Order: sequence, then C-alpha cells, then structure tokens
Amino acid sequence: MSTVRRFVPADENQLQSLVQPLQGPGFSWDDLLFSAELVQAQTWVYEVAGTIQSFVCIRDSGEAWEFTIVATRQDGQRKGSMKALLSSVMGGLEPRRHIWLEVHEQNLAAQALYQGLGFRQTGLRGGYYRDGSAALLYTWSEDKPLPSV
Ligand SMILES: CC(C)(COP(=O)(O)OP(=O)(O)OC[C@H]1O[C@@H](n2cnc3c(N)ncnc32)[C@H](O)[C@@H]1OP(=O)(O)O)[C@@H](O)C(=O)NCCC(=O)NCCS
Repeated sequence: MSTVRRFVPADENQLQSLVQPLQGPGFSWDDLLFSAELVQAQTWVYEVAGTIQSFVCIRDSGEAWEFTIVATRQDGQRKGSMKALLSSVMGGLEPRRHIWLEVHEQNLAAQALYQGLGFRQTGLRGGYYRDGSAALLYTWSEDKPLPSV
C-alpha cells in the first residue's frame, strides 16, 4: 500500500538515514541545512508499508516552484517511486506555474527522470558544484512546454 503525504517532524530521522548513503558530488547536504530545508520547504514523501521510499522538497520562488531536494532510498531505486511521487505532487501544485530545478551534469539517472516527466533543459551554470561540474537547469510547464536546448 503506497501513500503520498506531507512530511511530519517524526519523519526526519528516516530522511536523514535515507540521504546519508546518497551523498556525492552532485548530491551533498550538510545535516543542519538539510533539517532546515525539510521544514522551510513544502516536503512530500512517498511511503510504502510504513517506509519512506522517496521525498521531494518544493520551494515557492514566486515566479515558479522549485524542487530543491529529490531523493529515493538506495535500496528502493528504479522501482518507479520517484516518478509516482513527482507525478502526484506536480498535478496538485497550486497555483499552476513553471517548476524549476538544477541537476549535476553527470547525474544521468535524475536527468532521465526529469525528461520523462516532461522537463526540458533551459540553461546551464558552469562550475556550479564543488567538483567544478556544471548544473543543468530544467524547467517544466504544463501549458507552455519549453523547447529543448
Ligand atoms: C534520481 C533518483 C531520485 C531517481 O529516483 P527513483 O525512485 O529511482 O526513480 P524511478 O524509479 O521513479 O525512475 C523513473 C525514471 O527515471 C529514470 N531513471 C531512474 N533511475 C535511473 C538510472 N539509474 N539510470 C537511468 N535512468 C534512470 C528512468 O527513466 C526511470 O523510468 P524507467 O525505470 O521506466 O526507465 C534516485 O536515483 C536518487 O535518489 N538519486 C540520488 C539523489 C539524486 O541524485 N537526486 C536528484 C538530484 S537533482
């Protein structure tokens, strides 16, 4: 039985454990910043039988929504969890606006995920990550799909 629901503070330890093994050049969160983001953003989780498989933090940037953290637990990846979670929350975001996110140029799994959901690359920030890699900017728009770069 799967559920998409809002984050509650009791989820924090589970989410800290979920992100720990995922840390790397393109996904690096300091513990304190991570804790703050969970509550300052609108955080949604995808839970199966009491275990959180995936979560997303969404910020209201005024002009657009922004996905700031997107992650699936290591042993639950490639089972459709994130696709299910993002499809669900993207359909419910009000007001309807563009969605922005940044992804490490070498994070091909995440890029395939976003492209499959209809995001298009709309920009590039060179030298954005600590390892010197670029961030690809992706945008999703329901009513005005943007051309691929
Ligand atoms: C990227 C990430 C969130 C994907 O989550 P997931 O739950 O495994 O993704 P899903 O199973 O829902 O996959 C949906 C689609 O994404 C793409 N995808 C996901 N993982 C992939 C991989 N390892 N290689 C290629 N494509 C992949 C596929 O198109 C997939 O559809 P398919 O299985 O029908 O081919 C996950 O790998 C993750 O948490 N990575 C570490 C943290 C991270 O990089 N976050 C994103 C930062 S921008």
